Amino acid sequence: MSKEETVESGKPFLVGNKKDLIETKRTSITVGERVLLIIHHEGVFYALDQHCYHAGGSLLNGDIEELDNRLCIVCPKHKYKISLKNGEGIYNATNPKEKDKPPCWKSKGIKQRVHKVTEVDGKVFLTLSETPGWIESDYYQSEKGRADLKLE
Ligand code: FES
Repeated sequence: MSKEETVESGKPFLVGNKKDLIETKRTSITVGERVLLIIHHEGVFYALDQHCYHAGGSLLNGDIEELDNRLCIVCPKHKYKISLKNGEGIYNATNPKEKDKPPCWKSKGIKQRVHKVTEVDGKVFLTLSETPGWIESDYYQSEKGRADLKLE
C-alpha cells in the first residue's frame, strides 16, 4: 500500500477499513519516503517504522513476544527486541562481576519511531509521530539509509 499524496505531520490520515486490517494482521504502507508497519495483535493496533533501527532489517515478519511485561517485536535479522508500544529497545543484561545474579531486562531508550493509530466508525487512521529530535530508525527513512539497505 502506498500513500503518495502529501500527509501533513500531526494530522490523521485514512489507512483502511478496520476489518481488512485485522484480517491481514500486518500491513506495510509507504508514506512519502517512510515505510511503516501497522500491526494488529490481540485486539490492538500498533504502528512503527518498518525498518529496524539496528541495521535496517524489515520487521514485517518479526515474532511478537511479551518480555518483561512489554509486548515486543523481535527483528528477524539479529533478534533485537523493540517495544510495540513506544519503540524502546530492550535487552537481557548480565553483569560479569555478579555471575550469581540472573540476567535482567534493561532499556536502551527509544530507538524505533512509533506512530499513532486511531479507529473511527470502522476505519483506521494513522498519525505520523511528531516526537522531536533524532530516533535511530529515522536513518532508514533517509535516502542514504535506503542506499545502504540496497548494498546488502
Ligand atoms: Fe534488526 Fe539487526 S537489523 S536486529
